[in-house]
Amino acid sequence: MNFTLKIWRQDGPKSPGRMVTYPVTGISDEMSFLEMIDVLNDQLVRNGDEPVAFDHDCREGICGMCSMFINGEAHGPNRLTTTCQLHMRSFKDGETIYIEPWRAAAFPIIRDLVVDRSAMDRVMQSGGYVSVNTSGNTVDANALPIPKPAADEAFQAAACIGCGACVATCKNASAMLFVSAKVSQLALLPQGQPERLNRAESMVEQMDLEGFGNCTNTGACEVECPVGISLDHIARMNRDFLHAKVAKKG
Ligand code: SF4
Ligand code: FES
Repeated sequence: MNFTLKIWRQDGPKSPGRMVTYPVTGISDEMSFLEMIDVLNDQLVRNGDEPVAFDHDCREGICGMCSMFINGEAHGPNRLTTTCQLHMRSFKDGETIYIEPWRAAAFPIIRDLVVDRSAMDRVMQSGGYVSVNTSGNTVDANALPIPKPAADEAFQAAACIGCGACVATCKNASAMLFVSAKVSQLALLPQGQPERLNRAESMVEQMDLEGFGNCTNTGACEVECPVGISLDHIARMNRDFLHAKVAKKG
């Protein structure tokens, strides 16, 4: 397969960016999208040009690193698919493909397709954990019964890979889907109850401090999320946040 790639190139956070056109030829339809960029980068290096910088790690849909817009869609045209799991057979031979980085004020561009997503790490640090009692009376985790529906829903929330597609897709650059998944995965389990309200409050406040936008319920985040995180988690987080505020006033 042959493609014309239009890729965002930007030398650094403060440099002006531009779309640059690259033809690629001899691409197998079984290659992943990242392998196709590897082929391009191999060509660029052989010609003495700078390869395209892009994030990746696991290449199996787990780490959330392979974040990019492909033809205007986060992680490309397929639903429930990360860029690393997207195959070139999803495109037409001869197609022109536009490849851009996430665009959000809270995700400054570092270089080319690589953005700084450390704002999400700071949201996690503000409350995405449970404190463990190490007094000698610690209950073994396996001794805590958890209803199956709660375990299933917590597991679904925990599937969030922190890729940031929800933020990049949202017209407000809101991180509500990401934060609500991280709040929910603990709020649904008995281990997460003692800090439940404080957690929702501090993670939402950190989210606002990082410059993410507000949620206006467009639902675009849910559509583009590669692991199918549900908007229901946002409703749960909003309830916990409100309860936290009311509890403080009372
Ligand atoms: S909620 Fe979905 S889109 Fe957002 S960071 Fe998590 S996995 Fe990515
Ligand atoms: S490289 Fe890890 S999810 Fe794509």
